[in-house]
Amino acid sequence: MISFYFTRDGKWRRVTSPWELEGEEFSFLPWEGKNLGEKIDIYFPLLHGPFGEDGTVQGLLELAGVPYVGSGVMGSALGMDKSYMKMAFERAGLPVVKYTVFKKWEKIPLEKIKGEFSPPVFVKPANLGSSVGITKVKEWSQLEGALEEAFSHDYKILVEQGLSAREIECSVIGNEKPEASLPGEVIPYREFYDYRDKYIEGKTKFKIPAELPVKIQEKIRGYAIRAFQAVEAWGFARVDFFLRGEEVFVNEINTIPGFTEISMFPKLWGVSGLDFPSLVDRLVKLGFERWEKWRRRG
Ligand SMILES: Nc1ncnc2c1ncn2[C@@H]1O[C@H](COP(=O)(O)OP(=O)(O)OP(=O)(O)O)[C@@H](O)[C@H]1O
Ligand SMILES: [Mg+2]
Repeated sequence: MISFYFTRDGKWRRVTSPWELEGEEFSFLPWEGKNLGEKIDIYFPLLHGPFGEDGTVQGLLELAGVPYVGSGVMGSALGMDKSYMKMAFERAGLPVVKYTVFKKWEKIPLEKIKGEFSPPVFVKPANLGSSVGITKVKEWSQLEGALEEAFSHDYKILVEQGLSAREIECSVIGNEKPEASLPGEVIPYREFYDYRDKYIEGKTKFKIPAELPVKIQEKIRGYAIRAFQAVEAWGFARVDFFLRGEEVFVNEINTIPGFTEISMFPKLWGVSGLDFPSLVDRLVKLGFERWEKWRRRG
């Protein structure tokens, strides 16, 4: 057995037993300290998917005791897990599309699903993103294959009622008083906004800002802020919606939204009066602010 001890300043120490706390200290952050030769003021995680956006890297940074931009462990984890994300939204009174959650080791009640939903339904792994493993089930004969596909990516999956709806996205920044940008619209080129569409073919059209009646716009911005607060996000996020007629549903929150200059997140701020350099500046300030004011002190 090897015992490790974490010091209050985020160093690890190998100790001979859990009761003998003397030992050599080392930094577990490979990029920290001597090798880099530079002092890092703040870390800015811009990672996607599991082990990046889900709170794991944020946990590492917490342990290291360094300031960073964006959500903490919990907000990141809730933003990654579609089932708990929806629970948080529901608790905040936000409208979500009808869904149900299954684990791989459960017996999946196929007949019940067919009775309670009507095609198309979306079958999604709970914890992935970038549309990986998602199937749009247009007829029930595709259901079992879709479940299998989703379960090949995660032990937990969602079955969700498919809607014929517009896809609207809204950017949020802030800490305790988050602000929402103008909403934008994604117009998928293929059947749905899938991985190929997002990263390979790139034929999706964006309408920035979205053409929406002011009333709907305001509703979406209000929901975006509530969704941000529901998962206890910090710093920044992009909240995605479905709009069917005048009905708005919250689809998901991304706690590390796409952040290239052509991504929806900064572009929405661009049309809301905050250019890219000012946006980065704000986010860094928010990261420091959270660190100074709201960090949990061990
Ligand atoms: N219930 C639904 N009704 C209609 N279309 C849906 C539904 N769920 C998902 N879609 C379509 O599938 C796309 C991907 O689904 P979703 O946004 O839930 O997951 P994701 O894209 O994998 O997550 P991330 O955006 O974090 O990468 C949506 O953008 C939308 O085009
Ligand atoms: Mg999405």
